[in-house]
Amino acid sequence: ISENTLVLLKPDTVLRKLCGEILSRFERKGLTLTALKMLKLTPEMAAEHYREHIGKPFYPDLVEFITSGPIVALVLTGPNAIKTVRTMMGPTNPVDAPPGTIRGDYATVMSNNIVHGSDSLTSAQREIAIYFTDQEMF
Ligand code: CMP
Repeated sequence: ISENTLVLLKPDTVLRKLCGEILSRFERKGLTLTALKMLKLTPEMAAEHYREHIGKPFYPDLVEFITSGPIVALVLTGPNAIKTVRTMMGPTNPVDAPPGTIRGDYATVMSNNIVHGSDSLTSAQREIAIYFTDQEMF
């Protein structure tokens, strides 16, 4: 069965001009692009997106980074899209991410780890609603 997942291409990806390359990897895999937008997060949107991390030691730096410049938000769709994207991204810490994964190939530090992908069906539904209306999904 087909699932939707939310992917963010973080400010480091835009700065390093890697958006096309990362999106291309997901498309080549066979995931369908269902929605796409460029935006700059407000601190309020960042708090909504990362609400499970509020209060953690890295939270202030996380919000500062994710609001530091434009990002690209995507909804990708396909069978097991959530797990597929997580596998393609690799572990959160790029040090642990094997070559061949996105973080393994493009990132060195946890705070600038290129992409975000929803971790469950519940998170995907909640996160997609932060970025897209039903009319913006195709
Ligand atoms: P992401 O998948 O976007 O979800 C939370 C983000 O917090 C994570 O990627 C990292 O970029 C960032 N982060 C920074 N420090 C940590 C940490 N110690 N543990 C988990 N996430 C961290």
